[in-house]
Amino acid sequence: MTPPDDAGADQLGAGEYVPEDRRLEALRDAAAGCRGCDLWQRATRTVFGEGNPQALIMLVGEQPGDREDLAGHPFVGPAGRLLDEALERAGIDRKLVYVTNAVKHFSWTPSRGKRRIHKRPTERQIVACRPWLVAEIDAVQPRVVVALGATAARALIGPDVRVSVDRGRTFRGLNGSTVVPTVHPSSILRLIDQPEYEGLMSVFVRDLKAATQARSGRPTSRSR
Ligand code: URA
Ligand code: SF4
Repeated sequence: MTPPDDAGADQLGAGEYVPEDRRLEALRDAAAGCRGCDLWQRATRTVFGEGNPQALIMLVGEQPGDREDLAGHPFVGPAGRLLDEALERAGIDRKLVYVTNAVKHFSWTPSRGKRRIHKRPTERQIVACRPWLVAEIDAVQPRVVVALGATAARALIGPDVRVSVDRGRTFRGLNGSTVVPTVHPSSILRLIDQPEYEGLMSVFVRDLKAATQARSGRPTSRSR
């Protein structure tokens, strides 16, 4: 039996699982046992953030996908490859960034046999998982946090952010960071064979470059 979406309604979120030791490795170990919402039940494992523990730039996606759930690492599937290409084009070394997700367990729904189809996390699940994201930002202290897509942007900026309008702008984030929202790489991946692809990719690369400029203390826009 699969639990309904709000099966975690009476659960308290990740907060009670966040350890006193806020170093990344301690956070990662503790997150492996998180039961702060219902998503752990159908996923293989927690996929915690990874990368440079002193990164100046943190990239935040939505949630692990099928491949990430199996591998245990963020952005290692097709969307991750597109992200790698965009980072390279923006002149950002993936080894120097920290990559994570707003939600740490894969949310999916079965479809035609065995395939697991990505299912957007609910607002409740995003809120439940947010303590891990906050703890990662506190531990890494990036200067810039890039929100990849609406889920991350809402978790980092607030419910009113609109990625289509606000992409590439700077917002005041947690712990002195600057948040730059942009699209999710999956939204570009979907159009990989279409004529729009190159244009979408260029704008995505432009947003990533804007984030590196924000890093050097030149905000590109207002805060909300
Ligand atoms: N999409 C995401 O948002 N995060 C991943 O880690 C992979 C795909
Ligand atoms: Fe905990 Fe987040 Fe997983 Fe929910 S999605 S169980 S809050 S780590």
